[in-house]
Amino acid sequence: MLDQKSTSKIILTGDRTTGPLHLGHYVGSLKNRVQLQYTHRQFLLLADAQALTDNAEDPAKTARGVFEVALDYLAVGIDPKLTTICVQSCLAALPELTMLYLNYVTVARLERNPTVKEEIRLRGFERDIPAGFLCYPAAQAADITAFKADLVPVGADQAPMIEQTNEIVRRINRQANRDVLVEARALIPPVGRLPGVDGKAKMSKSQGNAIALSATADEIRAAVHSMYTDPNHLRVSDPGEVEGNVVFTYLDAFDDDKTELEELKTRYQRGGLGDMVIKRRLEEKLQVLLTPIRERRKQLTEDRAYVLEVLRTGTEVANSVTQATLEEVKAALGLFRF
Ligand code: TRP
Repeated sequence: MLDQKSTSKIILTGDRTTGPLHLGHYVGSLKNRVQLQYTHRQFLLLADAQALTDNAEDPAKTARGVFEVALDYLAVGIDPKLTTICVQSCLAALPELTMLYLNYVTVARLERNPTVKEEIRLRGFERDIPAGFLCYPAAQAADITAFKADLVPVGADQAPMIEQTNEIVRRINRQANRDVLVEARALIPPVGRLPGVDGKAKMSKSQGNAIALSATADEIRAAVHSMYTDPNHLRVSDPGEVEGNVVFTYLDAFDDDKTELEELKTRYQRGGLGDMVIKRRLEEKLQVLLTPIRERRKQLTEDRAYVLEVLRTGTEVANSVTQATLEEVKAALGLFRF
């Protein structure tokens, strides 16, 4: 297995450590990563330094998040024997690479990054954009290239980050006159992003429309029952809309019985199928998916020493990989070295 993996592609991806992960992360990326760890050399980055770029007023939150996200990884089935889990702020080569890359990217280009633009709008930074935040695409390029990643499994919103990373890669390689860095490819899941339970485009903890992977049975029930359906579907006998109906969007993601699901959709559209029936079905699917995750997470919470050991070991491995890349880049650019 390991021999086979040593010749295969390298994966690096990560999450900002701002709190526990939710179902949107699971569908968009975590589920994929659990599969990929069997066939690829995979690194997962607990991106606490990136989390700080828009949480400067609460650094302790980014620190607590390291443990929370690590618990989520382990609870969904990331196996630390197959995947290296590491802490971003403990990898000194990353900010060094970031500082180098910032010389090869313009402020205008950073400002044009569509993800950054949207995040600036959402966070209401307006003109008071923290410089660290504006520059985080260069830091993310450092994350990706330091591990020489070929593949980056992420949600669709991260595609501009990979594009910008590759621009930096090409710029550095041109400067170095050789391919010292590797271009990466985004691996975006075919299913669209999971909407929030309120029907808003994105599930997000800060919007209060998310279902955490650690949600209790009651929280799952309440979230499903509050879900946005079709506002014009008032009586059971009324015809209902499937398009834009959050319960059906979730059933598409979590219900494996596609034949039965199609039948339900037809009945709903025709009229005669109540919201409660589809909500109960969805709740059942989510309880089945999340109960073992929650239980495993709880066990791990009680074994803090084990989790910390996983992070310590993973970070040590990651340190040697990323330091080696930093040295190579410095040498390739012809910078001063003793
Ligand atoms: N920007 C990513 C997010 O907000 C997190 C992240 C940090 C990341 N570094 C990364 C993702 C490197 C992929 C690769 O979810």
